Amino acid sequence: MTDFPRSPTKMLDELKALGLEEYVLQLEIDGLAVVPVEAHGVPLEAFDELEKLLLDRAATLVGCKFSVDRGPHLPLEFQSEVGTLASISEDRGEPSQFLIQQLSSLDRRFRDLAVNPAAVALIRHMIGPKATRFSSHNSFIKWQGDYGYGSSLGLHADQMAMPMPWGRAALTANTNWCLSDYTLEGGALAYVPGSHRSVSPPSFPGATQKAVPVEAPRGSMIIFHGATWHGAFPRKIPGMRISIANYYRHMMVTSQEDIQGKFDRELANDCCNPELFRELAGFSDRFPYGEASELIPNVKEVARQA
Ligand SMILES: [Fe+2]
Repeated sequence: MTDFPRSPTKMLDELKALGLEEYVLQLEIDGLAVVPVEAHGVPLEAFDELEKLLLDRAATLVGCKFSVDRGPHLPLEFQSEVGTLASISEDRGEPSQFLIQQLSSLDRRFRDLAVNPAAVALIRHMIGPKATRFSSHNSFIKWQGDYGYGSSLGLHADQMAMPMPWGRAALTANTNWCLSDYTLEGGALAYVPGSHRSVSPPSFPGATQKAVPVEAPRGSMIIFHGATWHGAFPRKIPGMRISIANYYRHMMVTSQEDIQGKFDRELANDCCNPELFRELAGFSDRFPYGEASELIPNVKEVARQA
């Protein structure tokens, strides 16, 4: 039998070098993959440090102590219902979740996570190797309670604001770094396997009926396509579910956080891969421009003297 040469697979060399082929396959089929510690390379001790940073930040922002087994040590309330989380929630009442935003401005360890080689390689596979940029770096601080996404589980696709038709490439893509075990009763992410292939927003009630929990141990990185239908289950047990959502975008899609315009350039240089951080931040991008950027012709010198 003739041994024909295999046609080359169009996959980034980086993905092969990092041994991420199986997660590429999961992303293609399911629109979501769970990448374990052995594959992304961030040691569990780093998660301890990130957890402490976030608990301290939560205490500073809210004004009471937070602990992983109890959540906030005092009852909390929201002053208004204007936030994005509040606006998509069907519930009104005592909060059991909020966001810590702009993480990359807080500590170098958050910046290191945003440029994690496995995360960036998989995100670039979905969005495009040259076109991938940061959108936002947030932490979901969640504890026991029903406040959250309601009976629809808040199912949505992250790129839902983009007009249809969507194409195969992701316009945005997301990661969820699990600083807690993700279990159904612990308030795991919910998603509909393969829903990114519908290239459309979720339709109800079918989407809710098909949603499954993404159960994963602490230290996992959940990664998903911007067209994947997802939401979350409420946390039914005591304690906290802490995660970091590093969210990426195609360069022609606007960002959630104005990293390109407002992020401190010195801080960007203080991380494990400043060159990559600056690229993903879009610091050298042509758009948006703040002043006229195109050449204006001038009269030729010989014509001027004539
Ligand atoms: Fe989302």
